[in-house]
Amino acid sequence: VAPVGGEHFLQTPGPSNVPGRVLRAISRPTIDHRGPEFAGLTKRILDRLPAVFGTSSPVVLYPASGTGAWQAALVNTLSPGDRVLAFETGHFARLWSGLAERLGLVVDLVPGDWRHGVEARDVEERLRADRNRQIAAVLIVHNETSTSVCSDIEAVRAAMDAADHPALLLVDAVSSLASMAVEHDRWRVDVTVSSSQKGLMLPPGLGLTAVSEKAVAAAKRSTSSRGYWDWEPVLSANAAGMFPYTPPTNLLFGLDEALDMLEEEGLPAVFARHQRHAAATRAAVEAWGLELVCVDPSAYSASVTAVMLPGSSDGDRVCAISRDRFNMSLGIGLGRLAGPVFRVGHLGHFGDLALIGTLGGVELALRAAGVEVSGDGVRAALDMLA
Ligand SMILES: Cc1ncc(COP(=O)(O)O)c(C=O)c1O
Repeated sequence: VAPVGGEHFLQTPGPSNVPGRVLRAISRPTIDHRGPEFAGLTKRILDRLPAVFGTSSPVVLYPASGTGAWQAALVNTLSPGDRVLAFETGHFARLWSGLAERLGLVVDLVPGDWRHGVEARDVEERLRADRNRQIAAVLIVHNETSTSVCSDIEAVRAAMDAADHPALLLVDAVSSLASMAVEHDRWRVDVTVSSSQKGLMLPPGLGLTAVSEKAVAAAKRSTSSRGYWDWEPVLSANAAGMFPYTPPTNLLFGLDEALDMLEEEGLPAVFARHQRHAAATRAAVEAWGLELVCVDPSAYSASVTAVMLPGSSDGDRVCAISRDRFNMSLGIGLGRLAGPVFRVGHLGHFGDLALIGTLGGVELALRAAGVEVSGDGVRAALDMLA
């Protein structure tokens, strides 16, 4: 592959582009994690991070990817043999429920077509039918990164209330946090799971869980073996700005800087920017004459757009051409969508000009891959941004 000039465009839906400011913060010399400077750093982060989750509850950080945070949510609150209700909205919903099964939980995975979000009506019906109140938790992926379909967590919570069911609500906000509004408190979510490499604009390596009082109370009863994932020692060490193990100090430098950036822009402006870029991307897809994976306009994702290709066109080939000729990484289709689908990430450290460059690269890659496009997608996006 011949070298291509210019910056690499990392337009996968996570990891996302890491801002220079954050990279510079991460490159600082590592400090002693038992000293006062580190305690100040932890406190600054833990004071400010809950706002991004829409909560005043604590957020527990792990040196882990999102999968580790999934596990933490399950093993802290549930016990082997507990029943959980999950919805197959896409690849990540499947993976999370697969992990739950491997941890000894009994999963009711409601099948889905990977093009719609969770139906609140379904949640209510299934919880009402659980007369003995055996379902211990409902698992929902807020933004399905594989399909770019969002599920309405507020409606799920309302359905749980309508069924008067005491199950915990566990939500994966891995690709929505810091890109879309996540309202842990208002939606009365018990555990919100996320990770560093998407809206938070950091490299991979931090897993996060926001935990409600009800979740902390459930943790006192759960009998899963938690090992490393136990919240309790983290929460107690955090009170003094410490961790019960050697923390990922340099990622925490980065997180401190990323929180500064989110505060400077303001979360409402961050969310509006993501919505705008998602709308402009969809305008481009429509102008190209291609189809979105998401078929429900009320469920469009603001951080990623999954695009369906016609006939025998191959999404992997579009992604390979984009990478090799234009120095841009796109997301390939995952699981059941491998082959006909590719995904454009428009999240995190991203602006109008980067979006236009991204869509220009997509259009070039589509043409080079021989995908017939009917119109000028970049022009449609420009018109929308203007
Ligand atoms: C919605 C969602 N949940 C969970 C994960 C798993 O996170 P990780 O790959 O960081 O373990 C991902 C990864 O992309 C994701 O998009």
